Amino acid sequence: MRNETEMTDMERTPLVEVRHLKKYFQINVGAFKTAALKAVDDVSFSIMKGETLGLVGESGCGKTTVGRTLLQLYKPTGGEIIYDGKKIESKSSLKEFRTKATIVFQDPYSSLNPRMTVMDIIAEPLDVHKLCKSKEERRERVLQLMDYVGLNSEHASRYAHEFSGGQRQRIGIARALAVNPEFIVCDEPVSALDVSIQAQVINMFDELQDKLGLTYLFIAHDLLVVRHISDRIAVMYLGKMVELAEAAEIYDRPLHPYTKSLISAVPLPDPEKARANKRIILNGDIPSPLKAPSGCPFRTRCHYATEACAESMPEFREVSKGHFAACHRLEEINS
Ligand SMILES: Nc1ncnc2c1ncn2[C@@H]1O[C@H](COP(=O)(O)OP(=O)(O)OP(=O)(O)O)[C@@H](O)[C@H]1O
Ligand code: SF4
Ligand SMILES: [Mg+2]
Repeated sequence: MRNETEMTDMERTPLVEVRHLKKYFQINVGAFKTAALKAVDDVSFSIMKGETLGLVGESGCGKTTVGRTLLQLYKPTGGEIIYDGKKIESKSSLKEFRTKATIVFQDPYSSLNPRMTVMDIIAEPLDVHKLCKSKEERRERVLQLMDYVGLNSEHASRYAHEFSGGQRQRIGIARALAVNPEFIVCDEPVSALDVSIQAQVINMFDELQDKLGLTYLFIAHDLLVVRHISDRIAVMYLGKMVELAEAAEIYDRPLHPYTKSLISAVPLPDPEKARANKRIILNGDIPSPLKAPSGCPFRTRCHYATEACAESMPEFREVSKGHFAACHRLEEINS
């Protein structure tokens, strides 16, 4: 997270711009029959240089698909990805992009090969992109990366399976840093870790950001996890972005009924505020993205839904400076 002075300098320089991004998966729904699963459906946002954008929403709402499509690990069905002012489309722009933008995965158990040493895991991207001229340079770089993430250099020849979850995630982060990236998609990097070490790993992300000038898309289920690290927070529901604002604004003045329900579930440290904060229980379950409701995707669970909500998709609009939300009834609900 940036401090106030840094914010004013960087505020107006987007590093990542995503416009009308769509990712549909073709799913078999019977013999010789397929249907489009709209995992991400017309999502637009920007991430400023040095910023952390938190991305939250229930399981299956499309967070990972946004991250992976944005990195071109999945081919977008539609929309544009602009990185540092350049559209990512040609093979050559993609190759360069791969050294600038990378990902840290959720599960440090399955994302690291247990039969490889820490040295070889971290050096893999260095080898792929031919970033080191000699064995000695490769070794020096790996030791430097281990130092960045607080791993003991004496452990370089050990195997991934010998480490705890928190340490494995540090190995995963060192590997992501190997290409000297500017931008990292952090896909629930602490969800699989014990609560007791989540804060340490989040603090490490924060420190690395300051030290290396990184920009993050930080994905989490939990609003509490993203609150401290995020400058702004985006909320997704069923493949759509429903709200985006400064982190404090999302907490203090959520506008969309879905965000309000998420905030109402976050435990508050202040007992007076906690008493006043009534938990909003939503109707029913999240629908399958194969059978998304017409109009507003949230309407089957929304306490404010009217007939008009079934007719058209509300526009994702700027309600006040930098605060975007997609709901037909924002003014009535928030007056
Ligand atoms: N490779 C794939 N093939 C087919 N469907 C997919 C694929 N990846 C994701 N999906 C579907 O797309 C939707 C969005 O999935 P995604 O993994 O992006 O959600 P998520 O918000 O990251 O969920 P979680 O919080 O559980 O990680 C889900 O319905 C999922 O089943
Ligand atoms: S558009 Fe309608 S259904 Fe959707 S969030 Fe707003 S009030 Fe609820
Ligand atoms: Mg995910």
